[in-house]
Amino acid sequence: IFAFHKQDVGPVRFAESFGGWVVTRYSEVDRVLTDHAVFSSDELRHSTGGIPHGSNPLLRGLLAMDPPRHHALRRIVSQVFTPRAVSSLEPSITSKVHSLLDSAGESFDLIAEVAYPLSVHTIAGLLGVQPSRWPDFVRWTEAITSFFGTFTADEARRTAYHRACEEMGDYFREEFERPSGIIATLMASGLAEDELLDFCALLLINGHETAKTLLVNAVLCLAARPKPADLRLAVEEVSRYLPPTGGTDRFVTRPTTLGGQELRPGQRVVAMITAANRDPEVFADPHTFDPDRTPNPHLSFGHGVHFCLGAHLARMEVRIALAALFDRSWRITDLDTRRTPVGIDVLKVTLVARSREAV
Ligand code: HEM
Repeated sequence: IFAFHKQDVGPVRFAESFGGWVVTRYSEVDRVLTDHAVFSSDELRHSTGGIPHGSNPLLRGLLAMDPPRHHALRRIVSQVFTPRAVSSLEPSITSKVHSLLDSAGESFDLIAEVAYPLSVHTIAGLLGVQPSRWPDFVRWTEAITSFFGTFTADEARRTAYHRACEEMGDYFREEFERPSGIIATLMASGLAEDELLDFCALLLINGHETAKTLLVNAVLCLAARPKPADLRLAVEEVSRYLPPTGGTDRFVTRPTTLGGQELRPGQRVVAMITAANRDPEVFADPHTFDPDRTPNPHLSFGHGVHFCLGAHLARMEVRIALAALFDRSWRITDLDTRRTPVGIDVLKVTLVARSREAV
């Protein structure tokens, strides 16, 4: 993706093709994630490159805010993301996994028949919205994420993006008329409609896509292996080894030095989570997938004020799905690597499952 000059080796490099700094060493990636005063998430305010998409709900929401505004909003929404609220979804996630596997038959496409519907079910359950329109959720997500960050998007993509934003807005406004789940709690906490809409969009887009990819990656990593002794550790290692979010952007707010390079205000910086997770100074034998690895201080859920709000939920969802798959015994029988604009979720996996009764 990035074109570097041959002499450009080091933890922080300027990539002309991307027009910004690419950060690959753990300690520097960690600083970019945690030093929010110097590395801002507010693209609309701090970016000097390209035309920021002010209409993008992801650029207006929590993820793209800096403290103190971020702090105030996060305080409200984290009240509804308590471990208790998340754990209360466990029975519903478990029964959903089993019903999906039961109706999937012996051989099925894991992405379409399990991973997508499961992650959408989880997010919809959390938000308190009907999951029946999940094909639309997927379409909106693809239209918005494939446009996100590409200032040169063609007309067709631009149109699809604007249509997706509008349709998603209309959909949520209808849901706000009969609120339940965390939407009801957030409405009661005095969140303005715009803030609520941006937050719902962030959860829907960020949440289901990444959780789905984490499950797919877990299946890829664990194929042809015995069931790990501790699925929690295994899920952490999948997150480290194949993180659904490859990197995250920040914008320099004041002159600073990073990894021996001088960075200027307004410049874009991408903190490469994938690379940091394989830094040999932090992880022994970093290119080996070790489902028992511990400690495992990977950065796949971010670090600092933007640490993933859904981390506990996503881990739980993937762990439950893996346990159900191992219960039935499974293997990958087909892989289809068609490219989609969304990145790593290009792998189509077919599994063979045995019915639970037969085990
Ligand atoms: C951040 C939700 C799954 C990686 C966030 C934020 C939210 C969120 C709301 C913004 C937090 C903030 O700005 O304060 C969710 C939900 C998920 C989910 C609801 C699924 C149930 C995942 C997964 C991964 C992931 C599976 C990757 C393993 C991240 C990262 C950030 C983040 C890296 C921080 C990005 C940054 O600092 O720029 N998530 N997430 N998320 N999430 Fe998740």
